[in-house]
Amino acid sequence: PLACCINPSILSADFVNLEAELARIANADAVHVDVMDNRFVPNLTIGLPVVERIQQVSPVPLDAHLMIADVDRWAPLYADAGLDSVTFHVEASDAPIKLARELRARGAKAGMALRPATAVEPYLDMLPELDMLLIMTVEPGFGGQSFLDVTLPKIRRARAAIEGSGVNVAIQVDGGITEETITRAAEAGANIFVAGSAVYGKPSPEDAINSLRAKGQL
Ligand code: DX5
Ligand code: ZN
Repeated sequence: PLACCINPSILSADFVNLEAELARIANADAVHVDVMDNRFVPNLTIGLPVVERIQQVSPVPLDAHLMIADVDRWAPLYADAGLDSVTFHVEASDAPIKLARELRARGAKAGMALRPATAVEPYLDMLPELDMLLIMTVEPGFGGQSFLDVTLPKIRRARAAIEGSGVNVAIQVDGGITEETITRAAEAGANIFVAGSAVYGKPSPEDAINSLRAKGQL
């Protein structure tokens, strides 16, 4: 069975109490930090200075999801901040292979994200350059949306390609992950699960993480 990671998204946390909100998910595998610039997606969150501070106080590693334009310029600065993984959208990058190499050279795991309608096939040769493939299971931009089942075949094809080529690439899914949908995503081949509302929307985020983890374990 694949290792199962639960990465809560602080998009659903209280942005004025981030340190306390991080302490509530200390049993998570990593914290998913959604960076939005109101250009790549129609929403705005936080940028580098806030992420650098989160990195300094977080009890768990940081997994940044950059939903920003000009990502070739910005993503390396997030790697320099000491984050565990930095994920850029392939739709926003002019030179994804170069960028993935740059992230690794700066000590971060390299993640590449695909919007729901972006096909995975053109990027399969790139898998050895990556530590993680993020298959979006909602349109990026907002928390609390419904899981798109139409993305399941893409997750299956990505998993088959990874197994077939023997590379060590994690498949992360993000958007609409709940105790109900996590099983479908896991069965399709995902092994890192981002959950915003299904963690922070619950009275005990810690219990929510444990029960999601149990359900995501096949
Ligand atoms: C959406 C973000 C997600 C979001 C997930 O653009 O990338 O990380 O926070 O939230 P839920 O789990 O509520 O769909
Ligand atoms: Zn995200």
